[in-house]
Amino acid sequence: MRAQVEAVREAVARLPRGLAEHVERVAAEADHLAAGFKELGREQVELAAWGHDIARALSPRELLAWARRFGLEVSAIEEEAPILLHGPVGAEILRREHGIDDAQVLAAARFHSTGRAGMALLEKVIFVADKIEPGKVRARPALARVRALADRDLDAAILEYLEQMLAMAGEEGWPLHPQAVAARSELLLRRHQAPQ
Ligand SMILES: [Fe+2]
Ligand SMILES: [Fe+2]
Repeated sequence: MRAQVEAVREAVARLPRGLAEHVERVAAEADHLAAGFKELGREQVELAAWGHDIARALSPRELLAWARRFGLEVSAIEEEAPILLHGPVGAEILRREHGIDDAQVLAAARFHSTGRAGMALLEKVIFVADKIEPGKVRARPALARVRALADRDLDAAILEYLEQMLAMAGEEGWPLHPQAVAARSELLLRRHQAPQ
């Protein structure tokens, strides 16, 4: 796995500079968040963090073309906003071009921008690390609330992020991805069911 991490890091170094720097900050955040979870392998975390945005620099047209070539299902909402495909397409690139077969790593890349119901721990770590890296918090100060929750409660951090997304979607009139809606519903349900 170490060789895969190095190969992915080299691929990231060839991405546009701002994106490569974002990925590096996500890797640092993921390393920090994962430190509290002994069940996560360090190299798994590194691989998922360094690989999560491997397809982020592709144009909307390229994302659609690659998704079709890879046989991914493209929903109407993704057709309208192909940027939503950069996780799934990225996971396919990691699998096909970098030979990564760790299902948790691939899922973490695949679902890092929308989330989904039933996220595994590694998926949560990458999802949150991606949202709380300092560059993103600077660009959108409300993310500081997600960052503040991240260290003690990943689920609460994810829910806070999804609530912010939902509010923005409502204000701007764009639809929220069904997987994000499902992730939010699951987290809300669990919160309501939790003993007080
Ligand atoms: Fe991304
Ligand atoms: Fe990212």
